[in-house]
Amino acid sequence: MRVKINEVSKSYGITRALNGVDLDLNTEVSVLSMIGPSGGGKSTLLKILGGLEVPDCGAVCMNGREVYYQSEESLLEHRRRNGYLFQSFNLFPHKTAIQNVTLPLELVHGLSSSAAIEEANHCLDRFGLIDHANKLPFELSGGQQQRVAIARAIAPGPNLLFLDEPTSALDPEMTGEVLDLIAELKEGGQDIILTTHEMGFAREVADQVVFLEEGRILETGDPRLLLSGKGNNSRLDQFLSRVMRY
Ligand SMILES: Nc1ncnc2c1ncn2[C@@H]1O[C@H](COP(=O)(O)OP(=O)(O)OP(=O)(O)O)[C@@H](O)[C@H]1O
Ligand SMILES: [Mg+2]
Repeated sequence: MRVKINEVSKSYGITRALNGVDLDLNTEVSVLSMIGPSGGGKSTLLKILGGLEVPDCGAVCMNGREVYYQSEESLLEHRRRNGYLFQSFNLFPHKTAIQNVTLPLELVHGLSSSAAIEEANHCLDRFGLIDHANKLPFELSGGQQQRVAIARAIAPGPNLLFLDEPTSALDPEMTGEVLDLIAELKEGGQDIILTTHEMGFAREVADQVVFLEEGRILETGDPRLLLSGKGNNSRLDQFLSRVMRY
């Protein structure tokens, strides 16, 4: 992916969520992972990149296209090009697994009902969910729900996939299930930007990691080097020693 962020800032009232973020990613990066302490600005930056939040100032360019935050129409187009999964599962509770996938394909992407069903079946099958297609979300485990949510995000063939803590609500086994799926998506050529507290996963799957604290990127680099805990950024090392203590 090619992503260029220039001096992006964002405040909510008196809270400065982002404070002059710069980043330049080249085509060799297919998975970017954002890490850092709670409240550091990860979700805010992810939403700005995905066109779900508008920065106060600064510029973002993704795969050669500038994101025009002033134009609602152009933001909608940007959102349609990409796929999202946010901290909670956000499945429609009264729709079955397959309806959760077909609904946006029909309403947002304009597919016919039969084309949407075909695409949804293909995605659910790919993620080992075909036997669960007609279940409602409450009849699925947390890991299955999260995989349906990823299937829904992937079904339209997004340019970039944004995942905000995709495993935060899951137990270790389901976490493994979802992380395997993300690694598989990467293998299949899907570009992904995610936030995670799973340092082991970030080290294995991400091509690049950014460490965000207090609204700034304090460190960017190769996850194997950055996450070794032996770098020369004391803030990052402090963070790593806290999250990897147990
Ligand atoms: N909609 C909002 N209204 C007001 N303040 C907000 C809003 N969204 C985020 N903030 C504030 O902005 C800061 C950054 O929040 P953000 O959600 O980006 O952090 P984060 O790094 O994703 O944290 P976490 O790891 O807990 O998810 C926090 O201080 C948060 O309270
Ligand atoms: Mg967050």
